Amino acid sequence: DWTSGFYPGSMWLAYELTGDEALAEEARKYTNRLEDIQYYTGNHDIGFMMYCSYGNALRLKPEPKDKEILINSSESLCARFSPEIGLIRSWDFGDWSYPVIIDNMMNLEILFEATSLSGDSTFYNMAVSHADMTLKNHFRMDGSSYHVVDYDMRTGKVRSRCTAQGYSDESAWARGQAWGIYGYTMCYRYTRQLKYLEQAEAAYEFVCTHPNLPEDLIPYWDFDAVNIPHELRDASAAAIMAAALYELSMYSNKAKYKETADKVMHSLSSSDYRSKIGENHNFLLMHSVGSYPHGNEIDVPLIYADYYFLEALKRKRDCDIEAKSKSVQK
Ligand code: GLY
Repeated sequence: DWTSGFYPGSMWLAYELTGDEALAEEARKYTNRLEDIQYYTGNHDIGFMMYCSYGNALRLKPEPKDKEILINSSESLCARFSPEIGLIRSWDFGDWSYPVIIDNMMNLEILFEATSLSGDSTFYNMAVSHADMTLKNHFRMDGSSYHVVDYDMRTGKVRSRCTAQGYSDESAWARGQAWGIYGYTMCYRYTRQLKYLEQAEAAYEFVCTHPNLPEDLIPYWDFDAVNIPHELRDASAAAIMAAALYELSMYSNKAKYKETADKVMHSLSSSDYRSKIGENHNFLLMHSVGSYPHGNEIDVPLIYADYYFLEALKRKRDCDIEAKSKSVQK
């Protein structure tokens, strides 16, 4: 499933945070179990699966075959790119013609990396094309994003804008907003194109000034869910957003990105969301929502909530180290 890279990825991040070699061994064991996925073309999620696992492996404790596996995985993802439409197709099921979901922005990271690893700019160009088309068609005037945009397979024109996991077609599904902030911040990292940074900032403004964002900054599963304040929170959306905002804070002089991320992390680390050791099936965070409309994973721990929480912790550490070294230089 799309989540298969998050357990090894979490182990890699935990290793990075602690230096504990036993965690690296566990990470490598579960990373290598995903090797066959490098040839998977059944949906767009290979970026999540292989970058969170092999991407972290290559960064932290590389083995010779990691690089080739990441490049092969990127080629598999590229098989879902249509040059006529300029986008990677997310899903092959449903009544859509050529559906693209906001989550797909996350899968571009492996493509940018594949160009760095191989020197082949094809991956980079496809990622940029996908980011540009998504920027043009996925966002509303207020900075929020649709979940699904369906393109006409023959003409490339937008057929409809709707949701699969949100409250309604016109609502703002919380995790989708977080994917957008993270995705465009990451695209700015690789391209330095200002329009990507501005899109990430616009999406942040939508979320952080929204009247339905609770005081502790952990969003309800959808900003427009009908029974707010009696709706469930989604800790996974909060963790993804915190990880993104630490990175965004590195590209901006505005203090608010790091301040917001710190506040989110403070909430997630409190007993409201962070489970006691040995409870919560040994996950770190409680209270996430997978897909409310499908009745799947409602108010549960989710491995990707833990993954992005760990990534946010690492990024927080990096930001704090950088701030300290700047203050020493002064
Ligand atoms: N990428 C799937 C989800 O966010 O639920």
